[in-house]
Formats: sequence, structure tokens, C-alpha cells
Amino acid sequence: MIDTHSHINMIEGLTLEEIIKEAKDNGVEKIILPAASLSDIDTVYEIADKYEDVYGLLGIHPSEVKDWTDKLIDKIKEYSKNKKIVGIGEIGLDYYWDKSFNYQQKEVFIKQIELANELNFPISIHDREAHKDTFDILQEHNKSSTIVMHCFSGSVEFMQECVKQGWYIALGGVVTFKNAIKVKEVAKQVPLDKLLLETDAPYLTPVPYRGKENHPAYVRYVAQEIASIRGISFEEIDEITTINAKKIFGLN
Ligand code: NI
Repeated sequence: MIDTHSHINMIEGLTLEEIIKEAKDNGVEKIILPAASLSDIDTVYEIADKYEDVYGLLGIHPSEVKDWTDKLIDKIKEYSKNKKIVGIGEIGLDYYWDKSFNYQQKEVFIKQIELANELNFPISIHDREAHKDTFDILQEHNKSSTIVMHCFSGSVEFMQECVKQGWYIALGGVVTFKNAIKVKEVAKQVPLDKLLLETDAPYLTPVPYRGKENHPAYVRYVAQEIASIRGISFEEIDEITTINAKKIFGLN
């Protein structure tokens, strides 16, 4: 398995070495670490550079766009010369926490899409309660980057619209929650060649560890749940999602 979205720098209960070892012991081959805040840009670069099976995504999360400056474009370009930096993320729109700076969120989102296009990088998209604007901006501004809808939270219909665009759907711990009917339905219907696994650790911990800190090792509970919803084997989910992740992020 590949955990395609995991903030391992934010996990408090284990060291990075312990996190990676526990992940490997649970069948996780590689971990993709997205940046969120400004300080994450350096942190993600350093961790990805240091640990063999950790790859980095660089970008500014929509809730952090007040820290954006155009100087970051040059910094990300410079860092992206390192082969362990494999994409832009997590970027997008978040209307859940604070709607007071929507305009700035959109502006920074568009700049980072253009940067991803220039670098020929895939993008990990954060879309929280902003499905329509996220979709419209991507359709208008993304020319060439592969799109991954991280922690997909839309309806089956919205999933189908995204898949029609060639975008990927990444599912995490929420799919194991009893009341997550919409996400379970998406898990059932998403084409397997468009499906990815993730944890979004340290958040959104799957059952049976719900409420505790999330680790990449727990991505297997996500795979197990999706397999059981679809009535196929765990191995099949493991294999296809690993192939998809390696293709998108260019991993060997
Ligand atoms: Ni995240």
C-alpha cells in the first residue's frame, strides 16, 4: 500500500523512524507527505530528502494562504529539483473554517495550480465544503497536472464528475465510520483505476482506532473497509491503489 497523504511531521506519539517502521510492518511501502503551512515547506523537504520511502509535496493549505508570498514560487521550484519532491499539495479551498478570505484562497490556489503545470507535477487537492468552486477553478486553470481529490467528501454524482475529468479519488479513515454513508457509496462506485488510499494522519483515524492519533500503518483499515464494501479482496485493493499511486507520483 501507499499512504498518499500523511502529515507524518505532525504525529506526536512516535518518532519518524518509528512511524516508518510501523508502516512497513503493516504493508505500507511508501508514504507521501504533503506540506500545509509555510514552515512545512522546509520540513517536508528535509524529511523527504532524508527518508528513503517518504516523498514530499510542496504547497500552502487554503487555511494558511495569509502566509503566501510569490517568493515561494522560486523556492518550490528550487526544491522540486530534488527527485523526492513529487508534487504540489495540499492546496485548494476550505470554506468550513473561515469564509472571510475566500478571494485570497482562490488567488493562491490558482497560482499553485499554474506552478504545478509548469513543473509537470500532480496536485493533492484539499476541498472542504467548496466542491463547486474547487471544480470550476480546476477546470478553468489546470492544463496538464494530474489531480488527486484528497479526502474526498462529495457525493457519488460529484465523484463521477471528477472521474470524467480524469481526476483521482483518495479515500481515508472516514470510509470506516459507521455514519459515513456518502463516502461508503463513493467507495463502492469509484472506478478502481481512479482510487487511492490515504490516512491524512494524524487526523481522521479509522475504526478501530477512531479518536486516537492516526498513523500511516492504519491505512490498511481503509483498504480493508473498501474491499469489504466492494466484495473484493484486500490484496486487489492493495495492488491497484499501489499501481495508481506509483503512476501518478512517478515512484519506483
Ligand atoms: Ni491533509
